[in-house]
Amino acid sequence: MEDLKVITGNSNPALADDIVENLDKDLTEASVDRFSDGEIHVHIQETVRGASVFVVQSISPPVNKNLMELLLIIDALKRASAKQIAAVIPYYGYARQDRKQTGRVPISAKLVANIISTAGADRVLTVDLHAGQIQGFFDIPVDNLRGDPVLANSIKHEISSKKGVVVSPDVGGAKRARKVSQKLNMPLAIVEKKRHSEEENVEVLNLIGDVDSKRCLIVDDIVSTGGTLTEVADILKERGCARVEAICTHGIFAEDALDSIQASPINTVTVTNTIHNEDARKADFINYISVGDLFAKTIKRIYEEKSVSTLFPHS
Ligand code: R5P
Repeated sequence: MEDLKVITGNSNPALADDIVENLDKDLTEASVDRFSDGEIHVHIQETVRGASVFVVQSISPPVNKNLMELLLIIDALKRASAKQIAAVIPYYGYARQDRKQTGRVPISAKLVANIISTAGADRVLTVDLHAGQIQGFFDIPVDNLRGDPVLANSIKHEISSKKGVVVSPDVGGAKRARKVSQKLNMPLAIVEKKRHSEEENVEVLNLIGDVDSKRCLIVDDIVSTGGTLTEVADILKERGCARVEAICTHGIFAEDALDSIQASPINTVTVTNTIHNEDARKADFINYISVGDLFAKTIKRIYEEKSVSTLFPHS
């Protein structure tokens, strides 16, 4: 695999290290820093001519800087004659504006897809896109991996199926939560949540399912402000649940999310390491599960031109 190369920006070097360790390789030497005026400066310090290069960079906070780093790294690789450039975007930011919910707003997910392709990416590899249809915003292959099997495996021996209930925090997430409930052999409860726009607070309207005296496991793709998790946890407690835990693929923990989760009935939140957040790493109620091995296996399969879907045999 000499012509397989992995390069990283500054969004999540720890995950990039984990990926190369699982591939038994070293990261390709590159500097991604700043000019004195704040512009991003990229210099790839070894040849990539004819190589299949995988650029690991989440579009996570600081979102615009991380996106720009990704674009400039791709541009540098293209101009250095890389054979194939794959954008490995563990967290695909700008995904929550995927349609016009009102007049005079952008479809940011589409614009970002366009600029990643224009920069020179030949394919995209990500996990749990906020909306699966974003794959269609690209005219290049997109592999959208699943984080829930990794998270469910990490928790499977801790909750007895007799005492647990898997909870979807909104109707749209029921399919994902159902997969976890089937894997853990637990019943499913669904919360009906209302939020007309990303800026609005979450309002819980209804809970379908029995959670009385149960250990509840909320399954979501993103925890951002923590509003969804804490509102859902409140209603679960009101309905008599014994304990609340959450598993979420992407832990943004924006604004005062960590404080509000700590002050809520939630006991633990388990997230993957698609996003690096120093404060969340220090919180004892947040557990991290690595997707380094998952990405490494997928990168290897893409490089060897083998099927990626076989990594998810029961999906
Ligand atoms: C919503 O559709 C998503 O699945 C998450 O529930 C939401 O993005 C979480 O955001 P927050 O933590 O700000 O409530």
